[in-house]
Amino acid sequence: MALEFSAAVRRIPDYPAAAGYAWTGPLVRLASNESPYPPLPEVVEAVKGVLEGLNRYPDPTNGALRRRLSDRYGVPAERIAVGNGSCDILLAAGEALLEPGAELVYAWPSFSVYPHLGAASGARAVEVPLDAGERHDLGAMAAEITVATRLVIICNPNNPTSTAIGLASIADFLDEVPERVCVILDEAYCEFNLLDDPDSSIDLLARHPNLVLLRTFSKVHGLCGLRVGYALCGSRELPDAVNKVRQPFFCNAAAQAAAIAALGRLDAVAQRVERTVVARAELYEGLSGLGLYPAESQANFCWFALGEGRDETAIVDGLAGHGVLVRAGESLGRAGALRVTYGTPRENARFLEVLGSLLG
Ligand SMILES: Cc1ncc(COP(=O)(O)O)c(C=O)c1O
Repeated sequence: MALEFSAAVRRIPDYPAAAGYAWTGPLVRLASNESPYPPLPEVVEAVKGVLEGLNRYPDPTNGALRRRLSDRYGVPAERIAVGNGSCDILLAAGEALLEPGAELVYAWPSFSVYPHLGAASGARAVEVPLDAGERHDLGAMAAEITVATRLVIICNPNNPTSTAIGLASIADFLDEVPERVCVILDEAYCEFNLLDDPDSSIDLLARHPNLVLLRTFSKVHGLCGLRVGYALCGSRELPDAVNKVRQPFFCNAAAQAAAIAALGRLDAVAQRVERTVVARAELYEGLSGLGLYPAESQANFCWFALGEGRDETAIVDGLAGHGVLVRAGESLGRAGALRVTYGTPRENARFLEVLGSLLG
């Protein structure tokens, strides 16, 4: 039997999921920009605390979590959207804003989910190449905005290249974008960015009702297994619209409780950022010792070209053969590069050891 699928489904690219979920041996998982650190005890307790009430639906308004986020960031709760991971909000924003005849603009290579938005909606996706330093070229992106543009996405720091641009240039860019165009500043990795205080982008919301800061508990908070993200918005228009297009109860009870508990441990966030910055320096040094030079990372991962004549697949497979999982650039929009998440010191050392042996 051959089912007949919609044009949208035929267009949507597969998400390049990491390998290794079926493996049972010890693994060094450096392929998905996860946190290597286990959930905090307070988070585990909060999740246990909801288990006995699982016969009830979760709070569909995510009220307690939105109030907690509102206290933390000084953004009114009605301007905060919560999601089943930040991807959920991203996809819902695409559904709410885009349709055939509309356009969206984002940089490329960037987060692999962005192409899904154009494909699913039938809108035209304008992919603007990164500049020579693997950073967003905001001038070139601004030049692509037309009367048909409904959405611009800026990923800062950018996945997969790990690079960031300063907030001052983002502020200048926002001044150029018409207010009818929604700008999503995807800040999944903002806590690891040392260029600007992660809280400083919040101030831009007061000047730009069309701005959406997309954030997640998946990365620095280490909760990707539960799926919870949020958006801080310049007006309540986008939260209202994304809530219309999604199923009710999109954020489960354990995720809501865990996120609230995680917000009570911002000291742990600071400690994890410190460890990440140490890993960043160690991996930079180790890789440059092998003649490989990563882009300037402001994230919890690095990105580097393998150099002429090196076979990316052979290296990724060779690492996997030793239980070390990393991401091939080809699956992320640029062949000949690797994206490697920082792990624990021991995991990073193992990665460098195996890579060194493969490069000979
Ligand atoms: C740039 C970027 N945005 C958003 C996400 C989605 O994160 P989540 O849906 O887990 O919140 C990711 C995950 O890798 C990402 O790299």
